[in-house]
Amino acid sequence: MEQQMRLQKFMALCGVASRRKCEEMILSGKIQINDRIVDTLGVKINPSKDQVKVNGKTIKIEQTKAYIMINKPRGYVSTLSDQFNRKTVIELIEGSITQRLYPVGRLDYDTEGLLLMTNDGDFTYAITHPKHHIDKTYIATVKGIPTLATIKKLRQGVEIENYSTSPAKVQVIKIMNASSQLKITIYEGKNRQVRKMCAAMGHPVIALKRIAIGDVQLGNLPLGKWRHLNQQEITKLVEGKEG
Ligand code: URA
Repeated sequence: MEQQMRLQKFMALCGVASRRKCEEMILSGKIQINDRIVDTLGVKINPSKDQVKVNGKTIKIEQTKAYIMINKPRGYVSTLSDQFNRKTVIELIEGSITQRLYPVGRLDYDTEGLLLMTNDGDFTYAITHPKHHIDKTYIATVKGIPTLATIKKLRQGVEIENYSTSPAKVQVIKIMNASSQLKITIYEGKNRQVRKMCAAMGHPVIALKRIAIGDVQLGNLPLGKWRHLNQQEITKLVEGKEG
């Protein structure tokens, strides 16, 4: 989907002036889009395609790096767009952050919890490359109550489809009537891995939430909200990788 934006909004995001002031500048004929003067309001541009000049000088949206975490609710896709028109995590940050961020890795549509977003490709590579072995910790509510033997098997590795999962940390943290909660830490990131591991052991996942990536914790960030990572969290994630 092409992202159109009002000319004065784009100019403001580029740090030219306030939107109001930018409107005045447009009306006074100082702005060119693709080398043609635009001196009326209401024009929209595509920031990734159109070239905008102010007094003959090309402007660009400030590309400072940004690193945020979102507490993703269930019912959102963690991609920039969706072929089925489902809600995307972008909607949770729209209008509140100027940079164009994208998700670092994925969380399933039905999974909630910690999702990182950035515009820094090196950071994304450091977190998502399989050889870097970054721990991801989940709380899985599963059907039934796993035996100790099952927990041991989950820890050692489970056969799913045509591969065997790497060792995981698994703890039972709560036992309910007909379900239980497991805290599971894996460093691989195979598609729907936690769901498949639990299902393979006869304990299908009822609800899944990611609570940590490396040492960075979701903490008490409310569902659907986001915050910037602090410098210590960014450094820890980038330096904490192994391999
Ligand atoms: N494992 C899953 O099954 N789903 C996720 O979203 C993440 C890990």
